[in-house]
This record gives sequence, structure tokens and C-alpha cells, in this order.
Amino acid sequence: MNKELIRLRINGQACEVAVPANKLLLDVLREDLRLTGAKRGCDDSSCGCCAVLVDGVPQLSCVMLAASYQEAEITTIEGLADGPRLDPLQEGFSVEAGAQCGYCTPGIILVAKALLERNPNPTREEMAAALSGNLCRCTGYMQIYQSVEYAIKKLRTAPTEAAVPGERR
Ligand code: FES
Ligand code: FES
Repeated sequence: MNKELIRLRINGQACEVAVPANKLLLDVLREDLRLTGAKRGCDDSSCGCCAVLVDGVPQLSCVMLAASYQEAEITTIEGLADGPRLDPLQEGFSVEAGAQCGYCTPGIILVAKALLERNPNPTREEMAAALSGNLCRCTGYMQIYQSVEYAIKKLRTAPTEAAVPGERR
């Protein structure tokens, strides 16, 4: 199949990649750009494992044509940490065991990130509603809510700080 050169902006960086016009963003991320955080967990847009942020809004990359998003700012899980400093949500999922097998975790963290951007203090019901498109087979969701609540507290007390793995606080 013919390829075309497309320009994407991912995690703050511009990149160019030659792909078929009908290639899905999830496959471009994973196969062409080696950003494997976003996962394919289903065949019918029902799991949320492939979620990325497009201009800050969660979208399913398994149904997006990469070529259609050349004007957008795309954020994947790889773009959340600031160098060695984890995003408070990543720290929360580590501390509160919100990730078990981890397959759903990148999508859930990105959806939670968008939630906290628009609502810094969501209730559990609001978290459940925001995450209703993200399936997790492992945790029962309780640890996921606790992980998000960890991030909420962290952002409230130290909005500009995030943890470096292994750093004592
Ligand atoms: S892979 Fe399941 S919703 Fe995209
Ligand atoms: S941690 Fe395994 S599916 Fe969510």
C-alpha cells in the first residue's frame, strides 16, 4: 500500500512518519514510533486500553486514523513523567497498587489525568463515570480510585512537585 508522510506532535515533540493513509494511530504509535504504552485490548472500542489524550481530551487511538490528527497535540503515557519525575497519578498507581497486570493502566491514567484537569476534586461517582469506558479485569477498581485520590492529595499539597522513583520524601 502507498505510504504518505504525515507529521504528528506527540508528547510535545514533532515527528514525521511514512504510513499508509488508513493506518490507525494506535498502530503508528506502537509500530512506527515504538510508543507501546497504549494497548490494544479489544476489537470493538470497548476497553479503553488504547486511550490517548488529543488536545487534552481522551480518545480511543484504535479507531483514529493517524493522518487525521496532524494538527493535534497528542499525549501518550510516555509523555506524562517529567524526566525521572513521575506524574502524581503515576506515583499514586504505584503506591496504591492501582496497576496489577498493568494492561489497562496507561489508558486509565490518561483518562484520570483529563478528569483532574477539568475537576481537581472528583467524587468516586465522578471518577467511576469518567472511567466507565476503561475496563480493568484485575483490581475491582477500588485501588484505582485510591490511586487517583492519592494524586488529588498530592496535587493539592504540592502542585508543582512530583516524585522521582526511589526518592525519599
Ligand atoms: S483497543 Fe479496546 S477500545 Fe481501543
Ligand atoms: S490492572 Fe490488569 S486489567 Fe487493569
